[in-house]
Amino acid sequence: MSEASTSTLEVSGLSKIFVMSEDGIAGGIREASFSLKPGTFFTLLGPSGCGKTTTLRCIAGLERPDRGTIRLGDQVLFDGASGVTVPLNRRNIGMVFQSYAIWPHMTVFENVAFPLRVSKDRKYSKAETTGMVDDALRRVGLDGFQTRSSTRLSGGQQQRVALARAIVRQPKLLLLDEPLSNLDATLRDEMRTELKRLQQQVGITTIYVTHDQTEALEMSDLVAVIDKGNVVQMGPPREIYGRPKSAFVAGFVGATNLVRGKVTRPLNGKGLGAVVLEGGEEIACAFQEMLPAGEDIAVSIRPESMDLQPLGAPARDGFNRLKGTVTLSGFLGNMIRYNVKVGGRTFQINMEPETAFEIGSDVFLEFPGSAALGVPWGISGSQKAAVAHT
Ligand SMILES: Nc1ncnc2c1ncn2[C@@H]1O[C@H](COP(=O)(O)OP(=O)(O)OP(=O)(O)O)[C@@H](O)[C@H]1O
Ligand SMILES: [Mg+2]
Repeated sequence: MSEASTSTLEVSGLSKIFVMSEDGIAGGIREASFSLKPGTFFTLLGPSGCGKTTTLRCIAGLERPDRGTIRLGDQVLFDGASGVTVPLNRRNIGMVFQSYAIWPHMTVFENVAFPLRVSKDRKYSKAETTGMVDDALRRVGLDGFQTRSSTRLSGGQQQRVALARAIVRQPKLLLLDEPLSNLDATLRDEMRTELKRLQQQVGITTIYVTHDQTEALEMSDLVAVIDKGNVVQMGPPREIYGRPKSAFVAGFVGATNLVRGKVTRPLNGKGLGAVVLEGGEEIACAFQEMLPAGEDIAVSIRPESMDLQPLGAPARDGFNRLKGTVTLSGFLGNMIRYNVKVGGRTFQINMEPETAFEIGSDVFLEFPGSAALGVPWGISGSQKAAVAHT
């Protein structure tokens, strides 16, 4: 598959809302917009029921959006305003779904050849079919499995067959809906690396759906975090992790300590302001945006950005210092995870495995002001405005 076969995907204002008549609760996706350059690995990340599968199904053509546009390369797949809808079997999009159903009564070869046999775009000759199936199987590491019955495959092998079937027509776009969720932890890890390798090798634009933040961070070029049908933040993994725009994103993407606080001093020239935490301690804090004094916010501090010092250690310039008591320590091999109680709150701190702070000992918990991120609790006013008219 050449790089030229993959295309830019542009999704704009995509909405699909389901209203449950019994309870009146609306699920789905609201006003999703993104533009993916060819070869991008894009991940939709969010909790169960937030609208990830709905978004994929709209792009695949399995669901008719309420409005918006979907464009793949120079082809308009859907345009709510003009009524254009390209049917599913004319979109040439490869898909692997949550339950990756491969057909047990077919051989591996027949499973992978299926999309070629039912293709409405064009007919494939016997020789072409064999060549394309062999190529797809080779790419997923299943060369030689052609005549194997699909019932005699491990979970990981079935997963590869599903993937080979998704790429056999050399699609312009690959949609993967939690394709690894049926596998055990070790296999999932292995397949994650393989999937990424395959995607890079083929260079195909891919949308990956997961509620696993590790998967999202490790695999993606770009991540969209979704909460209750709204894309609340979109950016590269480093940005999503390092500069979350809300308490929800900070808490969902990676472990963090979230503490309530109130702004006491807005930003200074160094990009730091001050916040009084709910326990009364004042700390230096970095804000993503200008927040006025008196604003209620959340402060997010990652466990790896904090460390512990014995009482009596000299104060360090630029570091916040809270006094607390060690309540728990857990050795994890590559680090020690401490719990430290400060007032009524417990902080989690990850430190080098060589450290040894006894349970019950009083310590200083220290972190630079730049590592304490002040974020709004919910989505910000401007984000709300963008999604309010649904
Ligand atoms: N056909 C439908 N009719 C009514 N409601 C639906 C339909 N499909 C999805 N929903 C609702 O829309 C919301 C989003 O569903 P969706 O399947 O997109 O979630 P998801 O993010 O993929 O979740 P999960 O991680 O559990 O797969 C849910 O509240 C779901 O109940
Ligand atoms: Mg889903």
